[in-house]
Amino acid sequence: MRLSSRLPQGFEPNALSAALARLRSEGRELLDLTVSNPTHCGFTYPEAELRAALAQPAVLSYDPDPLGSRSAREAIAAHHGHGLRAEDLLLTASTSEGYALLFKLLGDPGDEVLVPSPSYPLFDWLARLEGLIARPVLSYFHDRWHLDVGAFAAAVTSRTRAIVVVNPNNPTGQFLSKTEWGELTGLCARKGLALLVDEVFMDYPLQPTPDRLGTVLTDPDPPCPVFLLSGLSKVAALPQLKLGWIAVRGPGATEHKAALAFLADQYLSVSAPVQAAAPTLLTLASGIREQVLSRLRANLATLDTALAAHPRLSRLPVEGGWSVLLRRPAVDADEACALRLLESVSTLVHPGSFFDLPGDGHLVLSLLAPQNQFQEGLDRIFPQV
Ligand SMILES: Cc1ncc(COP(=O)(O)O)c(C=O)c1O
Repeated sequence: MRLSSRLPQGFEPNALSAALARLRSEGRELLDLTVSNPTHCGFTYPEAELRAALAQPAVLSYDPDPLGSRSAREAIAAHHGHGLRAEDLLLTASTSEGYALLFKLLGDPGDEVLVPSPSYPLFDWLARLEGLIARPVLSYFHDRWHLDVGAFAAAVTSRTRAIVVVNPNNPTGQFLSKTEWGELTGLCARKGLALLVDEVFMDYPLQPTPDRLGTVLTDPDPPCPVFLLSGLSKVAALPQLKLGWIAVRGPGATEHKAALAFLADQYLSVSAPVQAAAPTLLTLASGIREQVLSRLRANLATLDTALAAHPRLSRLPVEGGWSVLLRRPAVDADEACALRLLESVSTLVHPGSFFDLPGDGHLVLSLLAPQNQFQEGLDRIFPQV
């Protein structure tokens, strides 16, 4: 039987994943400098309060609203501020599901969305699984990372339906500037495109950004349809609760919300318990975020201290987010380097190519690892990269 052409041709793991699985099956103890799952990073979660929030009487009743429960949406609107209202929000079972709903909303099979590159590697498959094509548009590094709005404009075709940006971007950490926002919204308005903005890392600023826009919600009246995506995975470091959301603004918002509600109604995928718990979870989130933020800052400082003793290595600025780009002499391919580090010093890093960084000379490290493991990982890899 033939499977859908939306799927990959095969499901073979890449060389790094295959090596990782082999070493784990051999019982090798590995240090993971790619860890992005906060539940594995030794944070102190307010366990009793989380359990209580998920054990309220309301978790036993089921009164589905395709937009998501009003109380959860009110709490999320209050978390964002900037005049966001409960009626501007739709709940999803993750940011990934948010993308899937938006791609269904905006495109027909064969239509295109423009995505920044380097960025979140899932865009390609999230688009393909909805029958769309994600066209990468290269960002450039000049003192800091910049979106190339001219290149976005040049990439628009009659099939383009939307532009996706990540604010701050993963893994480059760059926040949108006010100038980029003005240019992007102007481009989308002229070409009849929607603008999708993923702000899952918005609450994790690390270094100053010139001309920083902040959240796109600071623009109350954008000239094009704007869809903001976020969720508890990063806002509360609670990915296991599977709660994301989409905020809708700009021209056509009423119609877009009605169409999204129709789409969400076919699945009703957000669990009642997480919706009932959401107001409490968002109250608890700030304490969890503080721990994450101080971990990110501490690991960045550790990295800078280690780099001072290794002048052949450097890092790119990190305006925000959970990752850092380590620059190394490109004496071999980044993927070969990552494989070498895994085999020889039992430490996992991501090659820049996993996030579509062009060329070689970059490794991507997560700043989330427990501090002693991060330090130990740097001690192991620095002599070898
Ligand atoms: C830019 C970006 N968006 C979304 C997500 C995932 O969010 P969710 O767990 O809500 O699907 C990630 C996860 O790393 C991410 O890097």
